[in-house]
Amino acid sequence: MRELMLEASAKINLTLDILRKRPDGYHDLRMVMQSISLCDTIKIMAKTGDGKISVSVQGMDLPDGPENLAWKAAKNFFDAEKISDASVGIHIEKRIPVRAGMAGGSTDAAAVLRGLQVLYCPEMPEERLEAVGAAVGSDVPFCIRGGTALAEGRGERLTSLDPMPHCWIAVCKPEFGLSTPALFGRIRVWELQKHPDNEGIRAALHAGNLAGVAGKLGNVFEQALLPEERREIFAIEKAMCRGGALNAIMTGSGPAVFGLFSDRADAEKTVEMLRTSWNQVYLAEPL
Ligand code: C5P
Repeated sequence: MRELMLEASAKINLTLDILRKRPDGYHDLRMVMQSISLCDTIKIMAKTGDGKISVSVQGMDLPDGPENLAWKAAKNFFDAEKISDASVGIHIEKRIPVRAGMAGGSTDAAAVLRGLQVLYCPEMPEERLEAVGAAVGSDVPFCIRGGTALAEGRGERLTSLDPMPHCWIAVCKPEFGLSTPALFGRIRVWELQKHPDNEGIRAALHAGNLAGVAGKLGNVFEQALLPEERREIFAIEKAMCRGGALNAIMTGSGPAVFGLFSDRADAEKTVEMLRTSWNQVYLAEPL
């Protein structure tokens, strides 16, 4: 039996802007995404014979069938590549918080696609793999590519950017979860007061200027939070900034918050301090 181990990295949004609602129900976005070192581990075991995609998950209580994006990714891959013996075992060791805005499900799906590409179709072009990923979820193409990228359209149109300067990233997820479709449902694009400066952040990335990147962080979903959600999220952001973060914002459709630190000791102390009030707190680096 052939098997592969892969790391599936979480993402943060350095920016997230919503441009318009589309006739197909999705929204056109413009956002700068960044892979970080917080990751799940995925084991893929190519089998023969039983025609089954089997998924097991360790570390969190998650579905093991078609509702799991990793399962859906395998099914779409076998269908797209016309592989008749769709038999594979997928084991997910989960560490990335779910319903957090960190692409936890999408990155597992992306790792499955990368793994199946290696095992079954090493010649398959990256664009084709990203297209299979886009049918699984809007964030999957970015998770396949990784690094630092501008994502447009539904999130699937990618332009790789200059890498983020090295820093320490504290991540804290409040206990409540936010559903992505529900949060999009709260958005009235014409009512958004402020939009992130995507050109400014690209220039700061190009210059390798961490303080410049931190100064340009922005996420329009923060304008769609209910008062009790906003209170907790802003409390985490303030705590990170008091601990020495250059800036802190919510990632994706939330509710996880991240702060960027130039100083490792400040980041470690802040993580310890946050752990006295919140359970899901992590220290990561950009990839
Ligand atoms: O593509 P994905 O399945 O991850 O999207 C989940 C949901 O988020 C969609 O059904 C849609 O309601 C919303 N969404 C959106 N615009 C996007 C991405 C997602 O409205 N660009």
